[in-house]
Amino acid sequence: MERKIKLGLFGFGCVGQGLYNVLHQTMGINAEIKRICIKHPEKKRPIDAGFFTTRRDEILNDPEIDVVVELIDEVDAAFEIVSAALRKKKAVVSANKKMIAENFEALLNLQREYNTPFLYEASCCASIPVIRNLEEYYDNDLLTSVEGILNGSTNYILTHIFEHGQAFDEALKKAQELGYAESDPSLDVKALDPKYKLLIILVHAFGILLKPDDIFNYGIQNLKDADIRHAREKNACIKLVAKCKKMDNKVFAYCMPRFVSLSDTLNKVTNEYNGLLMEGAFSEHQFFMGKGAGGNSTGSAVLSDISALTYQYRYEYKKLNQHLNYGFTQDIDLEVYVSYNEKVKPNQRDFVSISVKHESPGFNYLIGKINLARLKQCDWLQNESVNMVLTENNY
Ligand SMILES: NC(=O)c1ccc[n+]([C@@H]2O[C@H](COP(=O)([O-])OP(=O)(O)OC[C@H]3O[C@@H](n4cnc5c(N)ncnc54)[C@H](OP(=O)(O)O)[C@@H]3O)[C@@H](O)[C@H]2O)c1
Repeated sequence: MERKIKLGLFGFGCVGQGLYNVLHQTMGINAEIKRICIKHPEKKRPIDAGFFTTRRDEILNDPEIDVVVELIDEVDAAFEIVSAALRKKKAVVSANKKMIAENFEALLNLQREYNTPFLYEASCCASIPVIRNLEEYYDNDLLTSVEGILNGSTNYILTHIFEHGQAFDEALKKAQELGYAESDPSLDVKALDPKYKLLIILVHAFGILLKPDDIFNYGIQNLKDADIRHAREKNACIKLVAKCKKMDNKVFAYCMPRFVSLSDTLNKVTNEYNGLLMEGAFSEHQFFMGKGAGGNSTGSAVLSDISALTYQYRYEYKKLNQHLNYGFTQDIDLEVYVSYNEKVKPNQRDFVSISVKHESPGFNYLIGKINLARLKQCDWLQNESVNMVLTENNY
């Protein structure tokens, strides 16, 4: 009989426990967890205490352990663990998008230098198979755009605001209770989490490797009741959308809230679900939807990576290696809605053009075109009394 793959697991929180559950309910995979490294030994665990350790080396130095599964919520410690495992030629699976996005180049080099696979499907859209799809199915230069809802926690919040009339804080609390939010929820609401995922997608979709600071992100933390009413009056809701698109051999990317009309495909993506629209020159539009957060759904993507390792799968980074040489651009004009109060007004000189200006007691907004590169420099946008949402009239 084939030898069972031995797993060394780091982290036994929402996703770690999800992996444990799905592994024990999946017959077709010949793998078992040998040891679990956690941070707080005093915590009560739902499984045998004999599994647990706080000493990393009990996993990293165990020659019996074939695969290290990194599912912790710390970035620096995760990078140390993943690097050490790859150096010891142990295959690694991770769901840690922040760690991956911040260290992409170093992780690529480690994989090459130690000729050891590193898989991270769960890091992008949890249960939706996006990375392997981009690598294997869209293995050509005909892909033109990838856009979607990549953050389950904010999508849950926005769904509960628009469909159930819930207050922002109440919806966030519920998302946290259900295990959909990051340990630091500002990563979700300020659109950093979907930006890290978009950075990973850019590598596998277009062969473009960026640093997180290169991509503009704007979250939903300043959303006001007036913005919600405005969306409703236009028969729309608001979704936090991440997008990258190729135009004339240049690719732009951003993460921002957008008005989405009730008939739009993205409006079908509710609660903790993620949705992804791929556009190709000939395949045209394709839509993927699935759970974007939660223990078991994320655990199932982690298990799928573990299974892929059993048949020696590894990312070939086809788009990077094809040297497609697409340039990255931020020179693109976007139409935005900006609401503000009397004290902090958007600087109109920042706009290429303004088509609507509405000022009434307690509610002011404008709609205008602004350059993506310029958005990064607008101080007024950082003020919490200002809120910005992309209109539907955009690329
Ligand atoms: N939750 C989701 O829906 C979801 C979806 C996709 C991806 N992810 C990613 O998956 C990862 C885990 O998320 P989670 O929601 O499972 O987090 P979590 O519930 O907060 O659990 C984190 C786990 O990591 C352990 N840990 C933290 N620092 C450690 C260290 N230095 N050494 C060893 N163990 C350490 C904690 O130990 P203690 O138990 O002792 O505290 C805990 O078991 C994150 O990178 C997250 O971004 C999460």
